[in-house]
Amino acid sequence: MVENRLNQMVGEGREFNGFDSLVRAIRIGDRPDLENRVISRMSTHYSYFFREPIHFSFLQHRLLGDWRSRQSVKILSAACAGGQEAWSAAMCTEGARQAIHTQSGGGGKVHFPQVRIDGLDVAPDSVVEAQTGIYEPQEVEPFVVGSARQKYFRQLADGRFSIADFLRGYCTFSVMNMLAADRIPSDSYDIVFLRNVLMYFKPEERRILLLQVRRILKRDGWLVISLSESLGGLDVPFRIFRYSIYRPC
Ligand SMILES: C[S@@+](CC[C@H](N)C(=O)[O-])C[C@H]1O[C@@H](n2cnc3c(N)ncnc32)[C@H](O)[C@@H]1O
Repeated sequence: MVENRLNQMVGEGREFNGFDSLVRAIRIGDRPDLENRVISRMSTHYSYFFREPIHFSFLQHRLLGDWRSRQSVKILSAACAGGQEAWSAAMCTEGARQAIHTQSGGGGKVHFPQVRIDGLDVAPDSVVEAQTGIYEPQEVEPFVVGSARQKYFRQLADGRFSIADFLRGYCTFSVMNMLAADRIPSDSYDIVFLRNVLMYFKPEERRILLLQVRRILKRDGWLVISLSESLGGLDVPFRIFRYSIYRPC
């Protein structure tokens, strides 16, 4: 996998003639872009809107309803790739906000918390893509259908879809290695999405990552991992609430 992913940089006639020289150049550290390019090539950035829809339904219909009287809610999309997870959470937030407005008769000002969604990823290219919020038709059309697509995207002249302006205020994206997320204050988030990334770490690194997540999660917060992952066998302070959804303990 490593060879495959780096084959455009390493090999005969390429920028580096072998892995040794690539590693040496990274260690010397005088080419700031090199490490980022390697990280981007090495990581799997695959994501799509409303991936594993059960999690978004849980956020929109259960949690955001329960949190309706709060002043603020903070959501983290850790390992956000191209931003699809964070923007999907923003769409759920809008959906919940409108449902509460409708339930209350639709008139006057109805309280809804300030919702902030942070997206973090170790790969700078992914963070730029997430922040730009412009996607090819094949990245949007199969996953966001009907009126939701019309509402949450603006179609550009070249056919691509741009996240609607009114959603943009919900999300901010930054480059961060979740293994070294020390600068995030403790008890910051109400929910952390940490999906489809645990599988890339060794068990001892998974534990470090999950302890970091436990620290930044509020005591009554929620951790969501992928349906294809599990915390089984890891000695971490989370108890299962429902398959793939955990609470700190
Ligand atoms: C398969 S994508 C998952 C995207 C999204 N969470 C989802 O479920 O669709 C994995 C992402 O994890 C990111 N990643 C890998 N290691 C990371 C780390 N240590 N800190 C932050 N992001 C990381 C990769 O750059 C990649 O964008």
